[in-house]
Amino acid sequence: MKKLLLMLALAGLAGAGEPGVITIQADKLGAEVSPNLYGIFFEEISHAGDGGLYAELLQNRSFEETLPVEGTRLEGERCIAPDLPHYLGVKESKRRPHGQPWSQEWKFTSPWPGWALDGAATMGIETKNPVHPKNVNYLRLKLAQPGARLLNEGYWGVAVQQGETYDCTFWARVAEGAGGAIKLGVVGTGGRELGAVIVGGVVSKAWKKYTASFPSLGTEAQAKFFLQPQLAGALDLDVITLFPRHTFKERPNGLRADIAQKLADLEPAFLRFPGGCVVEGATFANRYRWKETLGPLEARPGHWSLWGYRNTDGLGYHEFLQLCEDLGSAGMFVCNVGLACEFRNGDFVGGAQLEAELQDALDAAEYALGGPETKWGALRAKAGHPAPFPLVYIEIGNENHGQLYNERYTRFAAAFRKAWPQLKLIFNGGLNDEAPDPGVRNIDLFDEHYYKDADFFFENQHRYDHASRQRGYDIYVGEFACNKNVGRGNLRAALSEAAFMLGLERNSDLVKLCSYAPLFFNVNKLNWPVNMIGYNSATSFGRSSYYAQQLLAQNRPDVNLAHTLVTPGDMPAKYFAALPGLDRKAKEIVLRLVNGVEQPQQVKVCITGAKVPVQGAGRIITLAGKLTEENDEKNPKRIEPLCRGWQVPGQEFTLCLEPASLTVVGIPIE
Ligand code: AHR
Repeated sequence: MKKLLLMLALAGLAGAGEPGVITIQADKLGAEVSPNLYGIFFEEISHAGDGGLYAELLQNRSFEETLPVEGTRLEGERCIAPDLPHYLGVKESKRRPHGQPWSQEWKFTSPWPGWALDGAATMGIETKNPVHPKNVNYLRLKLAQPGARLLNEGYWGVAVQQGETYDCTFWARVAEGAGGAIKLGVVGTGGRELGAVIVGGVVSKAWKKYTASFPSLGTEAQAKFFLQPQLAGALDLDVITLFPRHTFKERPNGLRADIAQKLADLEPAFLRFPGGCVVEGATFANRYRWKETLGPLEARPGHWSLWGYRNTDGLGYHEFLQLCEDLGSAGMFVCNVGLACEFRNGDFVGGAQLEAELQDALDAAEYALGGPETKWGALRAKAGHPAPFPLVYIEIGNENHGQLYNERYTRFAAAFRKAWPQLKLIFNGGLNDEAPDPGVRNIDLFDEHYYKDADFFFENQHRYDHASRQRGYDIYVGEFACNKNVGRGNLRAALSEAAFMLGLERNSDLVKLCSYAPLFFNVNKLNWPVNMIGYNSATSFGRSSYYAQQLLAQNRPDVNLAHTLVTPGDMPAKYFAALPGLDRKAKEIVLRLVNGVEQPQQVKVCITGAKVPVQGAGRIITLAGKLTEENDEKNPKRIEPLCRGWQVPGQEFTLCLEPASLTVVGIPIE
């Protein structure tokens, strides 16, 4: 209501200069809009999965957090990558810091991050006869008498809600003494037990999995998990998990419902996974290995994310494919091509190791698409999903470029084309849009990345208007975000991206897909300055860029309409964008307009070529505010879309655009 009054008041103020004019020829169609244009990009960065989308409440559940980075050697307090040639050649290896191999400080405040003892007991990390050979560490807890509690702080708090049930599983083995019962539950910040349950009969000298559930009697964001053996002796513990009973689509080992719902509300046409640089790894041995993310949790070793923390891989390849299905999105898997991240160690493999990498990538497709009679399809069926998953795209490498990459693309793409001709294959141009070498075949899409300031995005709304259509492949703007001089992601950023995305849509005969990046961040740990969806342990919110994405995805027409555009007289042309399209099924002209300045603007709209019923039921959605405003955890909805009905005056009318706004106008036609 407040915004509606503001709009009406502004109608009198706007138009100090000449109004803008948009003339829409509703009977003259432009490029079809790619139905797959708006997708999402997932990477484990800023606790996107662990401590984010993945609903696990406990941190470091398998006690593996302090394991060194795969493929590195530990020297004092540093992990050091092997001194191998760089895939871009000698010059690039010189660019490594001090000309040395990539290395990383390896220091922890305790050997068991996330865990603490409350009471008289001792604990230590052990490795002999682990619960699973791939899960090397476990905790040995020694108690002279019952009483002490093992605490877990979760990911910046264990959040519980009154009335929700919490499901815990853990592996245990009695190392000394007769064993006994274990009490476990959640304790609030004031020391109040919010829920607990006693698991009896923990007496086995061999590893055994236990399960228990308890309801929470209160709501708290900063609670702690506790595990309190009611026994004396020594107990080995591993893979201690705690999940809320209600996850997205009620899946076990599932996803946080509030965060996953935010994805669903974006109506993403595709979901890219697992990145990003994590595909490549800090060094080759640290690359993403999808086969290590399958199966029971105790069989998943996890791995270190080059964004600075260890991943459980509980949200693994199978869970990614399941999410695609649950969101109705096409899957896009990014595979490694034997090259480590050029900005880290940049090492590479060839020969048999490269062939194995290629086979791994092909197996990933078989896992998703193969029949139950195939090796990997059978594993998928065994995991509870006999039908294929909706895998549609394979991106061959991430941000790789140069001669070696071109050769590898050629090799991988040919193998994929032969084995899985239905898959669309994506070539990447690195950070500088390097075109493929002549002769590289089997490219369906070319991936471009843009992390720039707002003026870049406003200015580049016409980037593809005159781009060649003769290159033999389409474009995927695979990573883009306005992330410079826009705070942590303000409205200016969102409006500049909206102007840019309208340019993608107008050129949708060429640009078939796009995805904002990065998608997620936990407010307690930022690896990247600007991201789309934030959260703490209990709540989540979208930055204004989230709402810009959502508005364009939810109001995507089928086809562009021919039009002419005159910018309102008192604003620089680059800050104005407008695009009409036709939603054939809804019989509606969908007009999207961006006003990138903080003054209201008037725009005359003239529609020809279709009958607009006088007083027809239209709709207007506005995302508006101050350019420097942003949503955060305290003000999650400072900027959010406001939707209202509207009686369309007829073929011609004047719109008053709010200052700093993205407006969607739905105009019914007969
Ligand atoms: O989105 C963050 C990073 O940006 C990705 O990991 C990488 O592909 C790009 O450089």
